[in-house]
Amino acid sequence: MNVVETVAEMELLRGQMAGRVAMVPTMGYLHEGHLSLIRRARTEADHVVVSIFVNPTQFRPGEDFDRYPRDPDRDLRLLGGEGVDAIFMPSVSEMYPPGFAEWVDLKGPLVDRLEGASRPGHFRGVTTVVVRLFRILQPHRAYFGLKDGQQIRVIRRMVRDLALPVEIVPCVTQRDLDGLALSSRNTYLSPTEREAASVLWRALCRAQELFRAGERDAEALRTAISQVLAQEPLAEIDFVSVADSETLAELAIVARPALVSLAVRFGVTRLVDNILLLPPGATAPSGLA
Ligand code: PAJ
Repeated sequence: MNVVETVAEMELLRGQMAGRVAMVPTMGYLHEGHLSLIRRARTEADHVVVSIFVNPTQFRPGEDFDRYPRDPDRDLRLLGGEGVDAIFMPSVSEMYPPGFAEWVDLKGPLVDRLEGASRPGHFRGVTTVVVRLFRILQPHRAYFGLKDGQQIRVIRRMVRDLALPVEIVPCVTQRDLDGLALSSRNTYLSPTEREAASVLWRALCRAQELFRAGERDAEALRTAISQVLAQEPLAEIDFVSVADSETLAELAIVARPALVSLAVRFGVTRLVDNILLLPPGATAPSGLA
């Protein structure tokens, strides 16, 4: 397992990789969610490269960039048994050399809604760093989690718009026993907040249950989700959305695939999660079901 810290060294190593290369971009502090992406990548490529980079440009001023959990030794230990060929761990100045000015800034509702509205500029940071990683690593495939439902849609749009020669592979969300989606940010939660956070999954399950029982009124689903969340005094809603899975425009009626997503604060910690609702007969957007 090669641990590489500079762009030049990474490009050199990439040049020596024959066959198909898969990459898994992460911000580290790895958990089973990240490892599930890596394990899948392992079975579908000749070489796997994992990047670990806490990307400053996707954090807004006042967000948690400084206190984002970092433990490279622990990450390297976890990756030890996973059959990864290289770990790319660049510094900020490697990824953003002095005078860096080449931003990838998608326009339109897909990036402006939901996370884009709550965290303006966030996706500009994500798309910029991901394109730079793709250029350095030139992967045939890149693996992303469905847990960040809008992020994977934005990345797919970017790959299409820029005609990048990489296939984006969506991977299912890994959850704890109580349904809470695994996330590096879960470490911020106090024990009481951690217990309270299971309400996210209960709220999504309630929407799923109503949908299966025939509810198609999107506002009724949003209300039902908010009611479940309201039962948990520590939960402070940022947004609850039932949106078209392709455009992320809020729906009135769920007659096509819908992304049900939410962002909720527990103290200083902001968590996101989502599920996809698929009306009978509707075709799942490729790989996103
Ligand atoms: P990070 O939050 O570290 O996540 C890295 C990848 O792991 C993302 O594709 C994310 O969707 C996926 N992931 C996180 N939790 C998951 C879970 N519980 N189950 C399955 N997959 C999960 O997302 C980022 O980093 C950054 O924005 C990045 C894409 C690396 C760009 O900086």
